[in-house]
Amino acid sequence: MKPESSSSSTFLSSPLKNIVTGFLFVYVLLCSLPVSLANNLKNFIDISWGDGRGQMFNNNELLLLSLDRSSGSGFQSKNEYLFGKVQMQIKLVSGNSAGTVTTFFLSSKGDYHDEIDFEFLGNTSGNPYTLHTNVFSEGIGNREMQFYLWFDPTADFHNYTIFWNHQHIVFYVDEIPIREFKNFQDKGVPFPQYQAMRLYSSLWDADNWATRGGLEKTDWSQAPFKAYYQNFCEDGCFWYNGYSSCTPNSNSWLWGNFDNDYAKKGQMKWAQDNYMIYNYCQDSKRFPQGFPLECYLNTS
Ligand SMILES: *[C@@H]1O[C@H](CO)[C@@H](O)[C@H](O)[C@H]1NC(C)=O
Ligand SMILES: *[C@@H]1O[C@H](CO)[C@@H](O)[C@H](O)[C@H]1NC(C)=O
Repeated sequence: MKPESSSSSTFLSSPLKNIVTGFLFVYVLLCSLPVSLANNLKNFIDISWGDGRGQMFNNNELLLLSLDRSSGSGFQSKNEYLFGKVQMQIKLVSGNSAGTVTTFFLSSKGDYHDEIDFEFLGNTSGNPYTLHTNVFSEGIGNREMQFYLWFDPTADFHNYTIFWNHQHIVFYVDEIPIREFKNFQDKGVPFPQYQAMRLYSSLWDADNWATRGGLEKTDWSQAPFKAYYQNFCEDGCFWYNGYSSCTPNSNSWLWGNFDNDYAKKGQMKWAQDNYMIYNYCQDSKRFPQGFPLECYLNTS
C-alpha cells in the first residue's frame, strides 16, 4: 500500500468503514449552500416554457408558474444529477384548483428513461389535494402511490424533497419520508441508476383525469392559476458531459441507508398509515396475476 494513498477510508475494514463514514457523512446532503446563493433561483433554474407565464420576482428569490386557458408553464434545473437530493418549497394553486396539476420531478431523456415524480392534483375548494408519486425505471412506471397532506398546501410554502442514492429513493414532505423505493436491482427490479436526471416542474391543465378521475373540470373563470416556489436546494453528484462530480470514497452517502434511520421509519409509517390513499402494491384488481416483484420484496 502506498502511504500517500492511505486515507482513513482505505485502512478501515469494510463494516467499520461504513459505520464511521456513515456518521461522518450523514449530514453531507443538507443543502448547505450559502443562503444568499441558494436563494437566487437564476443560478440553478431556467424557466423553460410558457411564454412569460413563468417568472421570477424579488431578486429571483420567488418563482411563479401560471396557467391559463392557452398554456401552462414550467422550469428546469440547469444541472443534471446522477444521485443526490433536490428540494424546493412550493405553495400550490389556491381556491378551486380542480383540473390543474403541478409537477416536481426528476427525469432522464429517451425511450427507456428514468423518472421520480411528485405530482399535485388540484381539487375543488375545500377538498384535499392529492399528492401522486411514481417511479419509472428504464421507461416503465406503474408504481403509483398517492397521499393526502396533513396541512393545507396552498396556505403556505412546504418542502418537497427527493433523495436518491444507490440504495433507495426517498420522497419527503417537510422532512418526513412518505415513500421509499428500494434498490432491488439484484433481485430483478430495474432501479434508476445509470441515467442522469434533470429536475423539472410544471403547472398544466389535466382536467380529463386529474380531479376525481376527470369528473371535476378546470374552472377557467378562476384563471390564471398560480403556484409559487422558493429556496431551491440541490446537492449530490452533478453530471457534466458524461462525468460525475462524485467519487465513491469521498461521497459515502451514495451507498448507505443513512438517510432513513429508525426514527424516520416511524415517521414514514405514520404518513402511510394516516395519509396514504392509494398504493399500487395493494391494488389487487389492477394486478390480478400478482403484484410487481418489488411489492413482495418491500417488507420493511
Ligand atoms: C424547509 O426546509 C428549510 C431549509 O432546509 C428549513 O429551514 C425549514 O424549517 C423547512 N420547513 C419545514 C416546514 O419543514
Ligand atoms: C378531491 O376531493 C374528493 C372529495 O373529498 C376526493 O375524493 C379526491 O380524492 C380529491 N382529490 C382529487 C385529486 O380528486
